[in-house]
Amino acid sequence: MNKKRLKEQVETIRQAFGYITRFRGQTFVIKLDSALFGNAYFPILIKDLVLLHQMGIRIVLVPGAKQRIDQILATYNIKTHTVKGVRISPPDAVSYIKMAAFDVCNKLMTLLAENDTHAIIGNWVKARAIGVRDGVDFLSSGTVESLQTDIVRRTLDQGQIPIFPNIGWNAKGKPYNISSNELALALGRELGAAKLFFITGFGGISGRKTRVPPGVYVSSDGTISQMTVTQAGGFLDINASSRQSTALELVSLAYEACRGGIPRVHIVDGRVEGMVLKEIFSNRGFGTMIYANQHENVRPMVPADIPEVLRIMEPSVGEAALVPRTAGQLEKDLEAFAVYEVDGTIHGCGALHAFPGKTGEIAGLAIDQAYANLGSGARIVSYLIEKASTLKLKKLFVLTTQTWDWFASLGFTPGTLNDLPAEKKKAYNRKRKSRVLTYSISPRRTKRPSVVE
Ligand SMILES: CC(C)(COP(=O)(O)OP(=O)(O)OC[C@H]1O[C@@H](n2cnc3c(N)ncnc32)[C@H](O)[C@@H]1OP(=O)(O)O)[C@@H](O)C(=O)NCCC(=O)NCCS
Repeated sequence: MNKKRLKEQVETIRQAFGYITRFRGQTFVIKLDSALFGNAYFPILIKDLVLLHQMGIRIVLVPGAKQRIDQILATYNIKTHTVKGVRISPPDAVSYIKMAAFDVCNKLMTLLAENDTHAIIGNWVKARAIGVRDGVDFLSSGTVESLQTDIVRRTLDQGQIPIFPNIGWNAKGKPYNISSNELALALGRELGAAKLFFITGFGGISGRKTRVPPGVYVSSDGTISQMTVTQAGGFLDINASSRQSTALELVSLAYEACRGGIPRVHIVDGRVEGMVLKEIFSNRGFGTMIYANQHENVRPMVPADIPEVLRIMEPSVGEAALVPRTAGQLEKDLEAFAVYEVDGTIHGCGALHAFPGKTGEIAGLAIDQAYANLGSGARIVSYLIEKASTLKLKKLFVLTTQTWDWFASLGFTPGTLNDLPAEKKKAYNRKRKSRVLTYSISPRRTKRPSVVE
């Protein structure tokens, strides 16, 4: 194997380990499109999900059943129709819909069993009828009323994978056909999921078939690679008059999800081998990611912030975690620094210094001790990475004496003095013995922030 390829592979493995540490113990809710069940790669996709489960990620599966329902209803010659994307089914169709919903769950369970993984199919969804809307009676179609999240959490604690059929029951046990997309969203919100996946049979959101708001990045294959929740709102507005499509429905669900506290929603193509793993374990995603505005509270430093920034840095300087800086130095470095502000008070700071050779240094990072462990440090780093992307930097480094584990959890990997720009290498303080960590910025998805979860 040539050296370049080997280095790339090692880099990928390191990146993956960084992400594993970050996601262990977190919940991912995964909706699987019904069209995927017949795909040749489907068993491989399930194997990939099992890998996530084995890594300690808490997986919740919501299989879609649309195609299977269509097949079964056609077999028994039962007619249904759809209004605004909702299937309206007469009462005698419900038992067949249930049969189809459980059939896809069973298929999933069998594939999980083939991978020595335990799963439980449950009746944990309380539903109610959609009822009559605008004169249309939605008959046996229902909507999610509540979820028995306590049982689901216990199931996850026991290392099992809960599988949710797209059926909900009312208090009297009457079953309703519910939307698996809506169910996945409700689960993501109620379980405090770190990620919600819509694994589709058509790919991410196409920027060619939809109108794209300014500032949204479209990759060379035409896929919208990511949108902030604000951009997603803009996307929905400018496409409001378009014909209702699954893509628009998914962006709308993702928008609601991010506003409801789920940090990231991924819309990925389940027909392509390894897509889900690539989306999670590299800073080059391949689907569409919609994410909450995590940088809301981070902004460039202004002169009036300097006394507060010095105060926040002081304890870390005392512990030799940071090199001392003066007000004058900070004033000179105004452009490099960003601060984390909540309700008019500064809680943290950090800097990005650009060097020749498209390299940048993250430095001067400190969080007010009273606000530690709230994710502010990670948010500042994420902001600085995004800033580095905008400046077209390719690689970042950080010199640290006490926080390498923390930077590693954000995707940084160990480096050497040779990773430093010449002037930095020359000025390296050998007594201080700081460790070098580096972070590669993906050339394709430069705008993708990848450190805050
Ligand atoms: C490092 C620092 C910026 C982290 O800020 P923060 O806002 O508290 O960090 P986050 O909330 O994003 O992350 C907190 C997590 O990181 C862990 N963590 C914090 N400092 C760590 C360290 N030095 N090594 C390893 N893990 C650390 C916390 O235990 C917490 O873990 P948990 O999520 O499992 O509970 C902050 O502790 C700090 O100001 N340190 C002193 C200054 C410093 O060392 N700066 C770096 C100079 S390069």
